[in-house]
Amino acid sequence: MIVIAQISDTHILGPEESLPCGVDHNRQLDLAVQDINAETVQPAAVLATGDMTNTGQPDQMSELTSRLDRLDAPVLALPGNHDNQSLFREAFDMTWSSPDHLSWSTQVDELRIVGLDVTVPGSNHALFDESRQQWLRDELSTNPNQPTAIAMHQPPFLTGIDWMDATAITNRDEFAAVIADFPCVSRIFCGHLHRPVQSTVAQASATVGLSTIYHVGLDLEPGSSVQLIRDPAGYQLHCWIEGRWVSHTRYIGRSEKAFEPERR
Ligand SMILES: [Fe+2]
Ligand SMILES: [Fe+2]
Repeated sequence: MIVIAQISDTHILGPEESLPCGVDHNRQLDLAVQDINAETVQPAAVLATGDMTNTGQPDQMSELTSRLDRLDAPVLALPGNHDNQSLFREAFDMTWSSPDHLSWSTQVDELRIVGLDVTVPGSNHALFDESRQQWLRDELSTNPNQPTAIAMHQPPFLTGIDWMDATAITNRDEFAAVIADFPCVSRIFCGHLHRPVQSTVAQASATVGLSTIYHVGLDLEPGSSVQLIRDPAGYQLHCWIEGRWVSHTRYIGRSEKAFEPERR
């Protein structure tokens, strides 16, 4: 079994900033780091699917990296629309393979994990332009039979939450066509939604990991506006078992640990 942990949308704050919605974003990441390090089966990597800082400020980035440095497992980091791309490029030791976007591809045991950066500096919108399409096709072509998962910040599917869907990539059919051309891609890990969501893109299952802070309110009414909710926060453990992905959710900030029930 290979375990990949996923944290997302940590929105780390600077040391002097007030706490949005009364939630201590930085403390929440501390709890996630502590719990991930305590997992009985350690993840081979911790995938960070973007919006790791709240507004991309240098002091937020310092607060972020000092916390991620405490993880025992290596971090695979992707920026979100709240992050600063150039600070991100400096802060993380990924093999950034394009000067135009912060995409990367790496091996984790037998798996290939591809980080596809669809963010646009200064915008909340996602972009899957020709350069990204070509980059993704080239990368997947290097070993078309290797089991592969793709990580990206904004999900490549609509969720029914209108105000969030406004920031999805617009050429979703083109993205699905690339995935369909590479059956080795069986999983897509996303962030941005601050809410666990499941869907499919071609043959791949696609999910949004929950945030370590608060979530987007679930309002499927057309034209819905910005709403947040302090649902249970946490991270996910994606397990590669016998050639398929199995995903578990771990909640953080709970004092109760698993216990043995009384036997009668
Ligand atoms: Fe976010
Ligand atoms: Fe986002």
